Amino acid sequence: MTHPVLNVAIEAAYAAGKIMRRQMQHVDAIPVERKARHDYVSEVDKACEEEIVREIKRFYPDHAFLCEEGGKTGDDEHVWIIDPLDGTSNYLHGIPHFAVSIAQQFRGKTVHAVVYDPIREELFTASKGSGAFLNNKRVRVSPAKNGLEGAILATAFPFRDRSKLQAYARVFQSVFAKIEDIRRAGTASLDLAWVAAGRMDGYFEVGIKPWDVAAGALIVREAGGVVMDFDGNDTVEESGSIIAAPYKVMTPLRQLIGAKWKTP
Ligand code: IPD
Repeated sequence: MTHPVLNVAIEAAYAAGKIMRRQMQHVDAIPVERKARHDYVSEVDKACEEEIVREIKRFYPDHAFLCEEGGKTGDDEHVWIIDPLDGTSNYLHGIPHFAVSIAQQFRGKTVHAVVYDPIREELFTASKGSGAFLNNKRVRVSPAKNGLEGAILATAFPFRDRSKLQAYARVFQSVFAKIEDIRRAGTASLDLAWVAAGRMDGYFEVGIKPWDVAAGALIVREAGGVVMDFDGNDTVEESGSIIAAPYKVMTPLRQLIGAKWKTP
């Protein structure tokens, strides 16, 4: 049975997904602001965030929030971490690959998670200790039989902070030499959800924010995968870097990234 808190998150994600699908018909007319270089927020991001927060507050008016657009509000042991439109650049370019990402934390640990892809109508969910699901069917990370060799990994480039590009290029080169191939699809929460569903054999990125990964990290862990940052810590929401993979891929992947990230 789905936990009541998860149900609230699911309904909120569906409501945001509806807005995204509707507005996508007129994507050229959507007002967009530049938050920073290479970083944009649209009226759709804002409308989705308002809708999600409104929906959650109907049931949990005292909970706190950490949202991509609105930042931190409230003070409570329960905190909702929300990326209302993960993959904003894809959305604004009409690329049908974006998602809603909602995590609920209790005392700093993620307990419930939803990643919703409104185009494919794929709903990825997890509650701590209860497994990971795609449209209510249990999912597991890939068996990764051949470890790194034969692995298809997801990644993203450090597009905001380009001072990290050189270090990233070193990592890319050493990882790419050992695997089958790499994809850069543009939506961190879906990269994670696809690792959980066994479609990707792993994912790594630097320059991420808590709302990009809080939900997806729980979904990967509940699907039997391992999630850590480039230094091997499991507090990926705070550290800004992430590796997620089945254990067989994680061990050699972490070693390669660790060796190349800080030193040439
Ligand atoms: C971004 C996307 C992108 C990832 C970035 C995220 P946003 O989220 O997930 O794939 O590379 O790290 O910030 O800004 O579109 O919500």
